[in-house]
Amino acid sequence: MLLVFLLNVNASSGLHVTRLSTEHLENPIGISFTQPRFSWNIIADRSGIVQTAYQIRITSNGKEHWNSGKIISNQSHLIQYEGPSILDRTRYQWQVKVWDNYGNESAFSEEAFFETGFFKSSNWKSEWITTALEEQPREKNPVQYYRREIALKGEVKRARMYVSAHGLYKAFINGKKVGDQEFTPGWTSYKKRLQYQVYDISNAFVTGSNCLSVMLAEGWHRGRINYRGKDDPFKNQLSLLLQIEVEYENGRKQIFGTDKKWRASSGGLLESTIYDGEVFHVSEEPIAWKSTGFDDKEWLPCQETDEGKDHLVASHSPSVKVQERLQPTETVNKPGEYVLYDFGQNMTGRIAIEMILNGAAEVLIEHGEDIDAEGNLYTDNLRDAMARVVFKADAPGVYSYIPQFTFMGFRYVRIKGLSIDQVKSIRAEVIHSDLELTGSFKCSSEEVNRLYQNIVWSQKGNFLDVPTDCPQRDERMGWTGDAQVFAKTAAYNMNVAAFFSKWLADVEADQREDGAIPWVIPNVFTKKKPPATGWADAAVIVPWKMYEVYGDAKILEAQYASMKAWVDFMVANAEEGLWKGERHFGDWLSYVAKKQPQVQSAVTENDLLAAIYYQYSMQLLVRSAQVLERGEDEENYAHLLEEANAAFLMEFITANGRLVSGTQTAYTLVLAYDLLPEELREGAVRRLVENIRGYGHLTTGFLGVSELNEVLSSNGYEALAYELLFRKEYPSWLYPVEQGATTIWERWDGKREDGSFQEAYLNSFNHYAYGAIGEWMIERMAGIQPLESSVGFKKFNIAPQISDSLSYVEASYKCNYGWIHSGWELDGHKGLKMLVEIPANTQAEVYCPKGYQIVRVASKEFGTFTPMSFFMEIGEKLSLGSGVYSLVLEKVPSE
Ligand code: BGC
Repeated sequence: MLLVFLLNVNASSGLHVTRLSTEHLENPIGISFTQPRFSWNIIADRSGIVQTAYQIRITSNGKEHWNSGKIISNQSHLIQYEGPSILDRTRYQWQVKVWDNYGNESAFSEEAFFETGFFKSSNWKSEWITTALEEQPREKNPVQYYRREIALKGEVKRARMYVSAHGLYKAFINGKKVGDQEFTPGWTSYKKRLQYQVYDISNAFVTGSNCLSVMLAEGWHRGRINYRGKDDPFKNQLSLLLQIEVEYENGRKQIFGTDKKWRASSGGLLESTIYDGEVFHVSEEPIAWKSTGFDDKEWLPCQETDEGKDHLVASHSPSVKVQERLQPTETVNKPGEYVLYDFGQNMTGRIAIEMILNGAAEVLIEHGEDIDAEGNLYTDNLRDAMARVVFKADAPGVYSYIPQFTFMGFRYVRIKGLSIDQVKSIRAEVIHSDLELTGSFKCSSEEVNRLYQNIVWSQKGNFLDVPTDCPQRDERMGWTGDAQVFAKTAAYNMNVAAFFSKWLADVEADQREDGAIPWVIPNVFTKKKPPATGWADAAVIVPWKMYEVYGDAKILEAQYASMKAWVDFMVANAEEGLWKGERHFGDWLSYVAKKQPQVQSAVTENDLLAAIYYQYSMQLLVRSAQVLERGEDEENYAHLLEEANAAFLMEFITANGRLVSGTQTAYTLVLAYDLLPEELREGAVRRLVENIRGYGHLTTGFLGVSELNEVLSSNGYEALAYELLFRKEYPSWLYPVEQGATTIWERWDGKREDGSFQEAYLNSFNHYAYGAIGEWMIERMAGIQPLESSVGFKKFNIAPQISDSLSYVEASYKCNYGWIHSGWELDGHKGLKMLVEIPANTQAEVYCPKGYQIVRVASKEFGTFTPMSFFMEIGEKLSLGSGVYSLVLEKVPSE
């Protein structure tokens, strides 16, 4: 009786462990880590919770594999596995329990798992195959169909499919698609790192004959990805590698895979490419080719091809999946011409349509991000991307179609060849990497809320396996500069630790021998391009930002050689402490004045920008060397940095502190990266402020945009930062919102006030760079700020900056330890209320906003707020442990 009672006390101590992850991933399958790291969140119903100990228990095949025992530690993030060797192709279940500083002990958490894939390339027993279809001359490149039937000799206990492809694949067993992933095997630096996926197919088979089939499209592997491929679009061969490992109930094992016995053909999917969309001819589609019994005698044989296995890597980033489905919000019917659907949201994905055809038909579905003043679909900004679907049928019937290997950036679709009554149903499927949403933001301004939503939507639209510039035109590439400015905002919106780790591995893979970083990653440019300042620096800045947010030093460690090689490239090409480079994009798409463009446009000298990023990258390298305890490097680069700074001051700054380019971007960046001697800082801030006041608006391009408001806020000009945020006229963040934008635009004036469009060549409506203001919204408006002294939010600040133009702001960020919440609300003219949530096992300093004093604090204990008693002095900060706190503040009377 007593025992039961005690157990119950433990179980009801209000301490729970949730959100278990392995290497930043929830229940991953097919990972190749041999010493994975585990993380969890703690939920408690009282405040001030610190973990004092944990115990991890791992089982495999019903047996205990490792038990850490009780480990005294307050770490609950990225705890490294320390048990006996982890085996390949094995599933491990794990649980964790924790103890807290009140002496509570949680129950063991629910089970999470991780499953390993192959650890060595010799695990691959099957062979790469390709088909003679590859040799046929053709204009277009049809999707290739592969099939083979296999006989299973009993009841399956466990089965796994390992697949990769040069190209994009979709695999099926008995006609049913394997997994819900899209765009597999993903986009990487294919020659060096080609991902494979692992699927649990234990329940996919029937005893006896089963049909394996695969569709294979060119995807990013070959064909037209921007300039690449113009010379030889079919250079890279498509090929497939698949292996199935079956374990029967009777313990026997069997392996099936790609070999010469597979047969291949083309079918109804006559064309499928990233930029141009798809052409599908239903009557050319072999009926039931994915099922057993199909006669494939006429199909072509397959050849084994030696494409190597050493470049195959496990997938460690969340796959791309359909994430949302949207219904049209409006329809325009022009009988005899077209039907136009508006989905109310610019997005990335595809349509799913059901149509009633009365006879032979050719249906054309075009995609666009906007309509012009006359209501016509606007497609000029797609440049050479056709972004369309053609569906052909020869006979009446009801047909459904969903494009398979392409995506479009669109809000509108225009359908020709169908009347409105023939569209039985239509929806849009939103597609992006399956990243956990970790942020939310709301305030009393509907326009600012829409801006926030637009930032999130542009992230959804451009985080499709790699961080891209845009999803619609003939580009859609991993532009480094865009990723660099947006990386931290991205991390507040979604858990991007694994996503960026993957991309950074490709940064390293595609880095040139001399250390230069290509413009886009994966690099698709065949010609050598001179590395561009602010773009190439993504190699250093992105790992550092990820380290700050996730506190994962392994990201730094993994990238360190690459970071260093990039800095070394600049050092090797610098003269007397200055790196100039050859050609830069500069402060891309900064403000161009209409009236006096020569005088008033905000052009920042490229040499200056190069000198700024040279120092910033070097600073981050020094800090990384410090974290990784590479003393010699730290010293060497610190010395080089001093030299660089001295040269920079000499070359670009007058004795009175005037910069050669007096732009907002120039002043912003030198202040943000702390490149000025103390005595020149104030003057630089003043010049920045004067510049903004002179123009009456922001003028930055891609490079200045992420730091502009931050620099104002951290230098006492938060009111001006808010003014920039609230401005609704061009150029500003809210101008596009006023114009009805539902994503972030590439240009400050993608659509002009008179309804006309910017030059079509660079006029994407889904480009996240200017959305880098999201970082400031979370860190300053809501005040949730990481600390460099305690990376990964183990300790953090809550320091909101209040604007009288808003009545409230509330934001949440799900950090490594759980949800952080910060909200403030004006309470009449004199007061302010704050609500703060600090996750268990973290601590925060809550700063009293300027002009207020804290008068009461209550903490939520077991569901109710209880007043806390202590004295507060004006301006003082509160050090709080985990919990939910409500604060009452009063305005300090001005003297
Ligand atoms: C892309 C950008 C990119 C830029 C380089 C453009 O075409 O869309 O976002 O960073 O080129 O300046």
